[in-house]
Amino acid sequence: MTRILLATSLLLYLCCSCAPPPETAPEASATDPPRFPNDRPEEAPYRPRHHFTPASGWMNDPNGLVYLDGEYHLFFQHYPDSNRWGPMHWGHAVSDNLTDWEELPIALYPDSLGYIFSGSAVVDHDNSSGFGRDGEAPLVAIFTHHDRDRVEAEAPHWESQSIAYSRDRGRSWTKYAGNPVLPNPGGERDFRDPKVIHDGRQWVMTLAVRDRIQFYGSPDLRNWSYLSEWGRTEGLHPGGVWECPELFPLAVQGGDPTWFLLISTGRGGANGGSGTMYYPGSWDGRRFQPHDRPDAGRDSVRWLDYGRDNYAAVTFDNTPDAARERTLVGWMSNWVYAQDVPTYTWRSAMTLARRLTAVSTPDGPLLRQQPILPAARGPGRPLNHPAAPGKATTADLSDLPHPGVFALELELDAAAGERDSLVLTLSNAAGEQYRFGYAPGAGPAGRELFSDRRRSGRTDFNEHFAAGPRGGPDVARAFPLQDGRLRLTAVFDRSSAELFWNDGTTALTTLYFPTAPYTTLTIEGAALREGRLTPL
Ligand code: FRU
Repeated sequence: MTRILLATSLLLYLCCSCAPPPETAPEASATDPPRFPNDRPEEAPYRPRHHFTPASGWMNDPNGLVYLDGEYHLFFQHYPDSNRWGPMHWGHAVSDNLTDWEELPIALYPDSLGYIFSGSAVVDHDNSSGFGRDGEAPLVAIFTHHDRDRVEAEAPHWESQSIAYSRDRGRSWTKYAGNPVLPNPGGERDFRDPKVIHDGRQWVMTLAVRDRIQFYGSPDLRNWSYLSEWGRTEGLHPGGVWECPELFPLAVQGGDPTWFLLISTGRGGANGGSGTMYYPGSWDGRRFQPHDRPDAGRDSVRWLDYGRDNYAAVTFDNTPDAARERTLVGWMSNWVYAQDVPTYTWRSAMTLARRLTAVSTPDGPLLRQQPILPAARGPGRPLNHPAAPGKATTADLSDLPHPGVFALELELDAAAGERDSLVLTLSNAAGEQYRFGYAPGAGPAGRELFSDRRRSGRTDFNEHFAAGPRGGPDVARAFPLQDGRLRLTAVFDRSSAELFWNDGTTALTTLYFPTAPYTTLTIEGAALREGRLTPL
């Protein structure tokens, strides 16, 4: 009986030439055993409370960020068998509020076409792919197959784009039997990280091809045609290959949309190592046209983050009101030292999810990032300071419900003058300090933001971790002042600081590894108008 059924289906398939290729069996089962590792005592204080970390194993880029039916899906580059990079899988976690994550079984495993590199996921509302059934929109993941055998054979075309789909809210995935859907054209060693959106006319894939971005279009996510490329002679090329790009429109202050092209660069980030830049421009359904002059140099480049610990950041597909705001997550590390940081059971966290909006400034549109904060654990404390320059405010952090886990919101009066400075210091009894703030400098407003982890605790695991590229702190020059006031929202979570200056138009994300939690916050310098410290 089974044989007859199989023969009939094969006949039906062969007769109907327009039918999609057969599907392979789902490869992940929802019964994979959960992993409950015990963190070693020395690493336990570094595991963040509110940032996603895998229970165990290695993690890098966020992948396949997509919202569906009240759930945010975070897939991620994952090697479950080691705390260093290796054969890449897509790990999986879900959240209904973007701050509490539940890790699920691995979604995609390496296969005969290769490792599963970075990519994206979309909700195929119109079932253009044909993978949906019974009126349910499928989730479709678009990712790079990275063929390790070809890498070893030095065949220079080891990356191609493939797809997989899920009909059960991402719990199980089936790889498309017609993979790859976008084969390597030949000779392109770096041909990866597809980020797909629907631009109203067609599906558009933004792809990193070594030193440029290529755009491909598709009616159905299975068949892709080349549209255009950008970047071979344009944009900043600070050394590394371009990776993990993304193109999306955002209304600038509720007005007309501007298109933003995000590009991660493996080297030469704002303060060294891997970093993400962005280019505002326009998209006509075929080509990306940046607003900047094509030869605009390093000084005019907008960095998504000036800290060294936010890479490969991309946004969610299918979130409500995406024309006005998107939701971004990045990998909170840097390729220069990511594999050496002093955690063992797991390696790497994601940034907090951030609301991304676009604002208009005299320098053109800027992206603004505002962190999605976890619920407060206890009442916030006002930080009162008599507005006396030269006097320090000190806050005791030793009684926080969770050591080292809190948010700060400050409003400072910076009208005092350009020579003014502000230094905030987190410190512990061992004399370890993480310092940040601003100092007179060469920035457009005469100031330079800084983030300094040189004496923050353990730094000797990698010689490039402590200091920025100039041997000093990480610095940011972009600095739009608002009405003579400076605003800062900062989130600290055991081993990380995320600083959002002036409503998030300048972000600085930093890791640190103190040998004991910081117990004191000191604020010196510019007049504090209002401040609040909230335990998280
Ligand atoms: C970026 C990246 C991607 C690639 C993935 C491999 O961090 O190098 O270009 O797809 O990581 O893990």
